[in-house]
Amino acid sequence: MNMKMTSRSLSRAALASTLLAAALGASLVLVTSADGAASTLGAAAAQSGRYFGAAVAAGKLGDSTYVNILNREFNMVTAENEMKWDATEPNPGQFSYGNGDRILNHAVSNGKRMRGHALLWYQQEPGWAQRMEGSGLRQAMMNHVTQVASHYKGKIYAWDVVNEAFADGGSGGRRDSNLQRTGNDWIEAAFRAARAADPGAKLCYNDYNTDGINAKSTGIYNMVRDFKSRGVPIDCVGFQSHLTNSAPGDYQANLQRFADLGVEVQITELDIAGSNMANAYGAVTRACMAVTRCAGITTWGIRDTDSWRGGENPLLFDGNGNKKAAYNNVLTALNAANPTTPTTPTTPTTPTTPTTPTTPTTPTTPNPGGCTASVSLNPWTGGFVATVKVTAGASALDGWRVTTVLPAGAAVTNAWSATNTGTTGTVTWANVDYNRSVAAGQSTEFGFQGTGNGQGITSTCAAS
Ligand code: XIL
Repeated sequence: MNMKMTSRSLSRAALASTLLAAALGASLVLVTSADGAASTLGAAAAQSGRYFGAAVAAGKLGDSTYVNILNREFNMVTAENEMKWDATEPNPGQFSYGNGDRILNHAVSNGKRMRGHALLWYQQEPGWAQRMEGSGLRQAMMNHVTQVASHYKGKIYAWDVVNEAFADGGSGGRRDSNLQRTGNDWIEAAFRAARAADPGAKLCYNDYNTDGINAKSTGIYNMVRDFKSRGVPIDCVGFQSHLTNSAPGDYQANLQRFADLGVEVQITELDIAGSNMANAYGAVTRACMAVTRCAGITTWGIRDTDSWRGGENPLLFDGNGNKKAAYNNVLTALNAANPTTPTTPTTPTTPTTPTTPTTPTTPTTPNPGGCTASVSLNPWTGGFVATVKVTAGASALDGWRVTTVLPAGAAVTNAWSATNTGTTGTVTWANVDYNRSVAAGQSTEFGFQGTGNGQGITSTCAAS
């Protein structure tokens, strides 16, 4: 009886302790998951290898509420206006980096990275550039890209090289601007000049009204696909995402189709007006988390009172710096992202190797098919950009050399996608790693910028 009692008490005790252990276990799991969830936007994004950023205004770096939130929550910074053309080159050839540098220094000294915004944009051009057209403007544009990207060389995670170059509406074509009127190749020329100036920065095309699959985003998609196929250096596409109430239903699908071209996608200027904004913020964040190559999200400002959309309260913090419901939805979505999801590296890297696999070919040495090279020139008074197309003959190339002869007085100032020996007269060019293989009959391109008159450059190609 006693034994039975004892045995019953023992089993009751055992049951109780099992229940206790289970309860403890459960509560331990809960504690772990609560503790494991990061409590700031930047830390939460970092768990899946992503970043969370904000547009920052130099004039607000003295506002302690603003700076406290910035320092606590964000690990990527975009200058809201301070790296634009009107700010960085107020007079032709005279550069002014004070406010841009101020923001960069704040970011770097607080362990944050920078997105550069924006090298070429039809808005916020300085007055002197607004009054220019044609070859003079083209030269000024390329000089601007080269100078600004060189000034910030090695310090920028990703540059918006070209901002808002596509038209709204159904055309899917380019927007008219004095930049566009310098020739349709201005975008690729800008990307090449940016790559030459800062090979470590990812180079993005950035635009708005591109949040779903529509004529404008498809026009950009086609441009990116063309750039990738021709070796024009582009690494990322920015989706500004200035939204009201919701993102389009195909937001994630649209990000994914760009990602599938082999570029990173980034949400670059997120703000959402309207009464459904909190839900929409959650949905946008989940869409980015679901796309492996979605590298991160930037909101266009910090508090509602910082927003360029005055009175629309489209941001994550209210005017007093308090977290809004939208903040909690974003944080939850960032924390829910699978931490093991592989993402593209977010540290600046050397030029991205093309991700489209080259069709396997049978390399033959020596190459009996040889190769040909042709030069296309974009000249202006006092300078030029030469694009050289290297085409493999009947056999695949595993390395190539091009010899160009420049007219007297012409000199190479920078180059991309090939390395040169010499800058004047006879200049030889060798492939870089990522374009050494060219399948039979296929082409790759490299280019260079020069001073002087480039008319009449000749080129010959040899397999190596
Ligand atoms: C806006 C800034 O937020 C404003 O302060 C400025 O007056 C105008 O530009 N798309 C862009 C950003 O790429 O540069 C714009 O920023 C907002 C729209």
